Amino acid sequence: MDKYVSALMSKMTLDEKIGQLNLPTSSDFTTGQASNSDIAKKIAEGKVGGLFNIKSVAKIREVQKIAVEKSRLKIPLIFGMDVIHGYETVFPIPLGLSCSWDMQEVGHSARIAATEAGADGICWAFSPMVDIARDPRWGRIAEGSGEDPYLGSQIARAMVRGYQQDLSDNTDIMACVKHFALYGAAEAGRDYNTTDMSYSRMFNEYLPPYRAAVDAGVGSVMASFNDVNGIPATANKFLQTDVLRTRWGFKGFDVTDYTGINEMVAHGLGDLQTVSALALRAGIDMDMVGEGFLTTLKISLQQGKVTKAEIDTACRRVLEAKYKLGLFANPYKYCDERRAATEIFTADNRTAARKIAADCFVLLKNQGNVLPLKRAGTIALIGPLADNKVNMTGTWSVAADPSKSVSLWQGLKDVAGDGVKIMYSQGSNLDADSLFEQRAEMFGKILHQDPRPAADMISEALNVAAGADVIVVALGESAEMTGESSSRSNIEIPQVQQDLLKALLKTGKPVVLVLFTGRPLAIKWENDEVPAILNVWFGGTEAGHAIADVLFGDTNPSGKLTTTWPQNVGQVPLYYNHMNTGRPLPEGAWFQKFRSNYLDVSNDPVYPFGYGLSYTHFTYSDLTLSDSALKGNQQLTVTVTVTNDGSKDGREVVQLYTRQLVGSITRPVKELKGFQKIALKAGESRQVTFNITPQDLKFYNNELKYDWEPGDFVIMVGGNSRDVLPAKINWAR
Ligand code: BGC
Repeated sequence: MDKYVSALMSKMTLDEKIGQLNLPTSSDFTTGQASNSDIAKKIAEGKVGGLFNIKSVAKIREVQKIAVEKSRLKIPLIFGMDVIHGYETVFPIPLGLSCSWDMQEVGHSARIAATEAGADGICWAFSPMVDIARDPRWGRIAEGSGEDPYLGSQIARAMVRGYQQDLSDNTDIMACVKHFALYGAAEAGRDYNTTDMSYSRMFNEYLPPYRAAVDAGVGSVMASFNDVNGIPATANKFLQTDVLRTRWGFKGFDVTDYTGINEMVAHGLGDLQTVSALALRAGIDMDMVGEGFLTTLKISLQQGKVTKAEIDTACRRVLEAKYKLGLFANPYKYCDERRAATEIFTADNRTAARKIAADCFVLLKNQGNVLPLKRAGTIALIGPLADNKVNMTGTWSVAADPSKSVSLWQGLKDVAGDGVKIMYSQGSNLDADSLFEQRAEMFGKILHQDPRPAADMISEALNVAAGADVIVVALGESAEMTGESSSRSNIEIPQVQQDLLKALLKTGKPVVLVLFTGRPLAIKWENDEVPAILNVWFGGTEAGHAIADVLFGDTNPSGKLTTTWPQNVGQVPLYYNHMNTGRPLPEGAWFQKFRSNYLDVSNDPVYPFGYGLSYTHFTYSDLTLSDSALKGNQQLTVTVTVTNDGSKDGREVVQLYTRQLVGSITRPVKELKGFQKIALKAGESRQVTFNITPQDLKFYNNELKYDWEPGDFVIMVGGNSRDVLPAKINWAR
């Protein structure tokens, strides 16, 4: 590769080298504010390194042809896309996917996405998004894997391996881990907002998933929009070079986010020429959309503001990516019409999407075993998300045709069987907010507002409910209320829908709330009042079938939350792995004077991290440690007996947490250090074993030294982060 790229670069002019650093957007989708013009002309002039937001083999082949036939050096383009949770076959939103805690399924979803995208001309996915997020106000919490660095790292690794096992194959595409870094820590959960963070928190809690992606060999990294401790990530040499390359040994290329360079003008770092030079010098290789590199690097070189070596390095990294993808050997490697016709949105892929989706849903409550539904009698299916296809694919499913996804109504009809009668009524709009129509317009008008007064819609729903044995009500957020630029300061179910739910509860009939959401919602009232709640995120192409599979008990729910669900927005950020404070509230207490708490709400979440019910029941017993005192590099073996003491087969996520009781810096009250998803038949017991070594106890201290400290530890095992069995151990140096 080195020889090939060096030989090519020796023929390149400065303009051609700078051209390789330019990544314009095509116009098949809109994923940002700005756009690019004269793309074909620029490609022919060697001023483009890659293109994104373009879909189909035919179009990609046509553009690639310009690059390899009309440009002087015939350098192929790299084609990117936001392939985030599937391509045309859409899987649950990433936050949902993380709730499966099933690394095989997570990896499999990425594998299918890569196969489909690769069959359609795409060789580069802007995924995985691994930003740790603890603030549900932030709409992009939907795109990540929740609040935990350990689980987030496992998922980052599984995703990268799923996309790019072997890049010599055209079913593998290059992954791009994003958004580097700390995008999920935006102040107040407002998108694109400032982040400011201690280095120990950064390294212990936020950076591990990016690092895991790098260790898994991710081919590219995308810089984030936000500033980090005063320097926008795009110009942050500490992040893009010192951490990414020097500390972690990243060898791929580093791309900005959409106009990330230009936005540093608004951040207040200078004009376009200045910020472009800052980005290059920080370690950025490719400029998405903004053309700051294209239009200013030459003059910056003449003025001594950047060096030839810096431009060469960036150019080399982009060319190396193309080499690794095999595009020099065959620029049309991913342009195979036959594959495009046979490998996308296949029955097999949809079957996988259905199964994976069902494993991501989280049963939040099931009082009196309202669920699973019986295959007899009449179901009233009510709610604005019940007969809705377009919302099922959630945020970032640009390649999908949402009209091909399965609505809940359709899913229920397909799965219920002949003995069940299903009656439907919309019951309410998604939101009554006047801005709603405007937002819908921006997102392609996929939301239909029913013009009838809310009271009329409710009374129609009550008429339908009157004839039913059970009410299934599909409520929550619309896909547009989640994802990029969709922060919310109120994280409750919109009022019009709550009004509907209240009216339905008054009927006294059993109510099952099927909750669609892209974030943890504040549903304390719903949890108190509604007998059964199944959280289904946005389940993707096969959402309707998968939800029906779980509602009727064909699949026993096994998803567990990967974020803490607060009682109200005022508790945010609320996460399980917090520090203890010097005045902690005693467990079980609500308010005590001079303790760390609120006057008007307890410190507890509605649902803790790791929580999720099943149609069966698991008990934990006999937590045993191989030793109560260990020394140095010995290994601790932790065993626990898990029993399925319910009447159905099921799967359980067994979670292991540790706590370091005394440290040189304050340490979290709990940290996830291991988990296993096991299947147990009704009545079956199994001993589950975890091994821990001092390697697992390491953390970054305030000097960023990564080591473990001897002393007392509590080892905890349970089915969620709150309900655990504890055992103590002393670990000496
Ligand atoms: C988003 C990225 C995305 C990019 C390209 C940006 O607005 O932040 O996540 O990959 O657009 O569409």
